[in-house]
Amino acid sequence: MCGIVAYIGNRDAYPILIKGLHRLEYRGYDSAGICLLNEQLTIYKCKGKVSDLEHYVKAKNMAGHLGMAHTRWATHGEPNQVNAHPHYSQNKKLAIIHNGIIENYAPLRSELISRGYSFVSETDTEVLIHLIEDIMTNESVDLVEALRIALNQVIGAYAIVILSKDNPDMILAARKGSPMVIGIGKDEFFIASDATPIVEYTNNVVYMDDEEIAIIQKEKELKIITITNKRKTPYIEKLEISLNALEKEGFDHFMLKEIYEQPRSIRDSMRGRLHLDKGLVILGGIREYEQKLMNARRIIITACGTSWHAGLVGEYLIEELARIPVEVEYSSEFRYRNPVLSEEDVVIAISQSGETADTLAAIELAKSKGATVLGICNVVGSSIARATHAGVYTHAGPEIGVASTKAFTAQVAVLTLLALQIAQKKGTIPQSRFHQMLSELNVIPEKVEQTLAINEQIKKIANIYKDVKNSLYLGRGYNFPVALEGALKLKEISYIHAEGYPAAEMKHGPIALIDEYMPVVVIATRKGTYEKVISNIQEVKARKGKIIAIINTGDKTVQGLADHCIEIPETEEFLNPLLATIPLQLLSYHIAVMRNCNVDQPRNLAKSVTVE
Ligand code: G6P
Repeated sequence: MCGIVAYIGNRDAYPILIKGLHRLEYRGYDSAGICLLNEQLTIYKCKGKVSDLEHYVKAKNMAGHLGMAHTRWATHGEPNQVNAHPHYSQNKKLAIIHNGIIENYAPLRSELISRGYSFVSETDTEVLIHLIEDIMTNESVDLVEALRIALNQVIGAYAIVILSKDNPDMILAARKGSPMVIGIGKDEFFIASDATPIVEYTNNVVYMDDEEIAIIQKEKELKIITITNKRKTPYIEKLEISLNALEKEGFDHFMLKEIYEQPRSIRDSMRGRLHLDKGLVILGGIREYEQKLMNARRIIITACGTSWHAGLVGEYLIEELARIPVEVEYSSEFRYRNPVLSEEDVVIAISQSGETADTLAAIELAKSKGATVLGICNVVGSSIARATHAGVYTHAGPEIGVASTKAFTAQVAVLTLLALQIAQKKGTIPQSRFHQMLSELNVIPEKVEQTLAINEQIKKIANIYKDVKNSLYLGRGYNFPVALEGALKLKEISYIHAEGYPAAEMKHGPIALIDEYMPVVVIATRKGTYEKVISNIQEVKARKGKIIAIINTGDKTVQGLADHCIEIPETEEFLNPLLATIPLQLLSYHIAVMRNCNVDQPRNLAKSVTVE
């Protein structure tokens, strides 16, 4: 959601800013804009894509060594040129870009209007820049102080960058609740919402903390103060993202690339943690909290979207293997329902981006009630990774496709390791069985590789069903969250209505929808409730529904019943989600491509949802 990129240094700012905006496109947006400081503050912006902005400025003078750019995902005011960022202050001496929401913008706006300010846009952002100008004028303070005073008056979340015509060698940045990273080069700085626009220029970064203001001046040391005016020492960290991870590398879409990366990303998420030779699982990041986890009265998993589905798999894993009660909560519900929490509870927050506003709020709530909060995040240095007491990174690498794929399987792999680690410590699984489980987990990346071989077959099935309006996904046990995730993938990228259901629940409602036009995707792998799922398949067939079944290699029984069978390798039941998810990702992908949908940036969706 919304992307920020800014530059100050000796190079031309424009190419860096445009490339940076392209890197941030994956976050989701509906308009884009740029501001360069070259004696004047010049703003260009337009509705649509970054390429539309490039086209728009083609014949313009884009010179300047200092500038900022933005992609906007509309909150206050429709996506159009006027509401796009940057915004000027009234005297046009300041310009701002902003991610987040100023919640008290309405009273501030009324107050500013009564003081003679006029607004050109409907945004909450314009309020902030007028407020800063007003404070500078009326309190005779400099820009930094005016910004500090203004930020003490606003309620809400922000990551902002401000340029000033009268301060041609300075960029100001501030954050609260929305991410901001500063890349430090030689005599130059790069500022962005995440590290993707920065990585090709420098590996040295500073992740800003909430309520910090960065004063970034050319050829000077980075200065950080808090909004209460305390000086902070910038903590420089090393980026570990490779540039290749941000390119499609020959694939048509990032999503396809990321689906194919899963043998590697699952392996990476287990590397150094699964010790087959020693029969051990060690998650270093939560070592200090091992006792806490073992003795937890309850584990509550909180997340949104695909990460919530991974959480559901986690529930099955932790309850079955480690015998600790688990609840899985949508962060957006959890944060507002005054949950019963105590110091004996452990909350696990799962997030690919590490920036999801609802999950962040759920974490703060859990901490305020004394619970221990652990994180499972993909983005290193993200807000959630820093807000939790401890955590485990998934190491899936940057995920650019909006629809989450490799992050999901990496989350499930980490949750599997976590459940096994607690189980081993608690002694809930005999050591010999534990060994078998580890051995099977260790070969999962190879089995994912084998599973990917079904791609061409799935393409053919996709071609048959690409025009349907509705679909149903069924699974039981560990395969129930897989069904939910399969349905979500199809909805997100192909805009076909899809529902995931526990297979046995079908008879309590969705069965009414089944007719000869309704494809039903059933995950019918052997083990667990296999026989029961076969009965569910028969119920669908009796009503002329079309069955696409995910089965284990060589399963003749389901082959005799289903319209299409997709074979995946057999594994332990608790590891099924890591394999059964793959064909569903591919099915959604091919259907979306055949429907000419924008696979990597589906309409209305954002990768990093930084507003509630
Ligand atoms: C958005 C994305 C989903 C993602 C969800 C949670 O809706 O489009 O793909 O699953 O947010 O994001 P998180 O980064 O917290 O996992």
